[in-house]
Amino acid sequence: MTEPSRVLNPLLRQRLMSADAAAALIRPGDNVGMSGFTGTGHPKAVPAALARRIAQAHRDGEPFKVGVWTGASTAPELDAALAQVDGIELRLPYQSDPVCRERINAGRMEYLDIHLSHVAQFVWSGFIGHLDVAVVEVAGILEDGRLVPAASIGNNKTWLDQADRVILEVNAASPDLEGMHDIYYGTHLPPQRMPIPLVRPDDRIGEAYYRCDPAKVVAVVQTNAPDRDTKFSAVDDASRRIAGHIIEFLQHEVKKGRLPRELLPLQSGVGNIANAVMAGLQDAPFDNLTAYTEVLQDGMLALLKSGKLRSASATALSLGAQALAEFERELDFYRSRIVLRPQEISNHPEIVRRLGVIAMNGMIEADIYGNVNSTHVHGTRIMNGIGGSGDFARNAWLSIFMTPSTAKNGAISCIVPMASHVDHTEHDVQVIVTEQGLADLRGLSPKQRSQLVIENCAHPDYKPLLRDYVRRALESGSGRHTPHLLQEAFNWHLQAQAGERMGGLPKA
Ligand code: COA
Repeated sequence: MTEPSRVLNPLLRQRLMSADAAAALIRPGDNVGMSGFTGTGHPKAVPAALARRIAQAHRDGEPFKVGVWTGASTAPELDAALAQVDGIELRLPYQSDPVCRERINAGRMEYLDIHLSHVAQFVWSGFIGHLDVAVVEVAGILEDGRLVPAASIGNNKTWLDQADRVILEVNAASPDLEGMHDIYYGTHLPPQRMPIPLVRPDDRIGEAYYRCDPAKVVAVVQTNAPDRDTKFSAVDDASRRIAGHIIEFLQHEVKKGRLPRELLPLQSGVGNIANAVMAGLQDAPFDNLTAYTEVLQDGMLALLKSGKLRSASATALSLGAQALAEFERELDFYRSRIVLRPQEISNHPEIVRRLGVIAMNGMIEADIYGNVNSTHVHGTRIMNGIGGSGDFARNAWLSIFMTPSTAKNGAISCIVPMASHVDHTEHDVQVIVTEQGLADLRGLSPKQRSQLVIENCAHPDYKPLLRDYVRRALESGSGRHTPHLLQEAFNWHLQAQAGERMGGLPKA
């Protein structure tokens, strides 16, 4: 797409209008499917125009809220802009925006935190209501009306299919990604479902463009704005040690013959630690790696560049400014190595199980028996959401969860007696890693697991307290399969909520 205008279809050229005019086509109470996944490919102009319209309506005393459905997190010009004016009735599926987080935790915005692979089928089947409008960013519109996707796919295929009205944002700043996408149109609802014909992580099974009925397109808005600059912290000591433990473990698995030398396709979650683990793989003794993941962050791009990683399948890019510049400089190199797919395919349980993905995701806390909380601080306050961690963890060949052993300068232990909210149960969690060490929980009973989690993963300050908890829980005799002291299982969380150090320890 090198033409000055990226809108080549004559009919759709007639629908060109300003963002304000396009936003005026969205009505109070509409459910709006927005593009966007981890800060890329979200519409840049219409949401802000909609937010201005909503603010004006509220000043005039008129109620105006919409449902906002996306792929995953977006950026301040979408999530924060709409949340700030109290314009979102219900948000789904994953967000990481501080304003949204504050509104959700204050009870002012409904939030549906569902598995990312479920969203499309929930919409197809009508479980979550009707989709009125799609607002989707694309990199261009071809002469025949097909749409060139931008830097994330997410749920766009579903939004374009299901919405009554479609607003397209054509972003002139979007890199020329033509040919990098693989949009699969073969999914159906049961009982018509067929196997998804993807057997290798870099297989292409679909088309490079979105289809969209031009009759549904009510507006085309031209923009020229960059994606979010996703900043990662410099790799710190804890992350480096976590990465080290994981690499040592993977080497051990290869030695035992339980993993091939080139490993199995890697999935790496969002956030700093996941990014740091990818960076750690740079110096690890593995080559010819592949990735079947949801988000491609800076660390994975560097692995592609060095040749350690042969190919990567994802639904979105999520790069910092420097990595993005590198990506744009070497677009053709990356075009032949990256495939971007709809999120119901990038996260599909059938494929994750078939490929035998190695899933590595961050977490808030784990308990001594291996239940993992990825989403809720002290059980009640949402952080981001489950994202795709459940899609991968439940179906992976190896399901690894990682966190520093403490948070908030040591005041909080990330290994607790009982997880205050459970996203991934003990049945889906195989390995827990902190900077202290790694616990391989496969094949262990709950009591055996608790020993390993405490001894290998807990911070030394909290180890004696956790050992004491298990000992007393066992002695209490109320249930010796998964021993707990129900009267004190959440004491640590209550202490943290009260601003004290967990376990009654003196402030560090
Ligand atoms: N109690 C309270 N706060 C905690 C905590 C705990 N047990 N553990 C972490 N935190 C806080 C940190 O202090 C930090 O707070 P800050 O932003 O105020 O500094 C924040 O949570 C993020 O923690 P950090 O250690 O920087 O981890 P991260 O960037 O690796 O993110 C998750 C960790 C869990 C928030 C992130 O991985 C996530 O949202 N996961 C769920 C979704 C997912 O896994 N998606 C991938 C699927 S493909």
